[in-house]
Amino acid sequence: MLQSQPGRPIALFAPRRIGKTYFLHNDLTPSAHITGFLPVYADLWLQRGFPLEAINYALEEALDDVTVPSGVVGRIAKTPVKAIAGVQFGEEPQRRPLPEKAELRFDALIVKLAKTSGQRILLMLDEIQALATASNGDAIMASIRAVLSNRKIEVCAVFTGSSQDALSQIMSSVGAPMYQFAQILDFPFLNDEYLQLLIGHFESVHPKKTIDIVSLRAAFEYIGYKPELIKDIVKEMSAEGSPDVEFALRKFITGEKQTTGWNANFYALPPTEQALLVALSHGLAPMAKDTLAALSRASGETVTISKVRAALDRLRKAGVLSKPEGMYMIEDKLFADYISRTYALKHVQGDDQKLRSQ
Ligand SMILES: Nc1ncnc2c1ncn2[C@@H]1O[C@H](COP(=O)(O)OP(=O)(O)O)[C@@H](O)[C@H]1O
Ligand SMILES: [Mg+2]
Repeated sequence: MLQSQPGRPIALFAPRRIGKTYFLHNDLTPSAHITGFLPVYADLWLQRGFPLEAINYALEEALDDVTVPSGVVGRIAKTPVKAIAGVQFGEEPQRRPLPEKAELRFDALIVKLAKTSGQRILLMLDEIQALATASNGDAIMASIRAVLSNRKIEVCAVFTGSSQDALSQIMSSVGAPMYQFAQILDFPFLNDEYLQLLIGHFESVHPKKTIDIVSLRAAFEYIGYKPELIKDIVKEMSAEGSPDVEFALRKFITGEKQTTGWNANFYALPPTEQALLVALSHGLAPMAKDTLAALSRASGETVTISKVRAALDRLRKAGVLSKPEGMYMIEDKLFADYISRTYALKHVQGDDQKLRSQ
């Protein structure tokens, strides 16, 4: 696809923990090598404040890899011989150094890396939606777009994004530099092939038993198609020797490991936001009059529409909420289910505890 649409990147979208990064490292990188591309990976989420610097750093590393041969012999051979008995020789004339300014440096690095390696670069930018919240995100998007379209021969790109929201915000908002630029694809979930591998593992431990694929598929869907979670569940089933998927799933989502993490995330939020999550988890419209009254009671503060709006916005930026079809929802479905079965807004009046367990 990349080769058939020069200058146009592909953006893969899927929620967190679905396997995007795994795909970039374990599937796309090897295919890139086979096809003769030079893969370069940068995680923009890790370097949220400095996304373009993170990209440039990855390009510089790749440039080092192609210019500095690995192995002792290579390194010795490349060490410039400087002054012997006062005579200067050994170093080739130096080219102008790369520009300091990040935008120009990015362009120069692409050109230099492609030229030095003799390969087309496959630039993989992981979690590109981080640009939506970066302070100079717009300017960075503009320069990424400019470089990718001006340097079609030298480079092609794949982006990933975890938040449908932020991704469409940067890709499709009119006037934004990414407008109609990248082709957005839904990153596919793993399918039965993966589940069969897990079942095979279970059967190798318990040759007389098997796991029902239909139940396992249902559990995989329920946990949001996260490969690591379903693997943990099947591992636990293997350890217990039990093929009962429903039981293992229930045990998993009520287990201490999960609930401790959810509680920590929940209690880290201010009372208004906690109450808001409880309301959303029960399917209440966050700005309805009754909801505002319940939120005020539950949080012990006067909750106004503008307060709710600000809280929704903040939670959305933090990736807790998304707004796929104009409706706010808690992005992690398991977290949402946990909140709705653990907390209610209705009991809290007159209680010291802000939000009481059902
Ligand atoms: N194709 C796969 N096969 C097996 N396990 C996978 C696969 N993809 C992802 N995983 C597991 O899921 C975990 C989360 O994947 P990751 O790529 O980090 O998700 P994302 O980048 O979408 O947040 C990985 O650490 C790995 O254990
Ligand atoms: Mg990732």
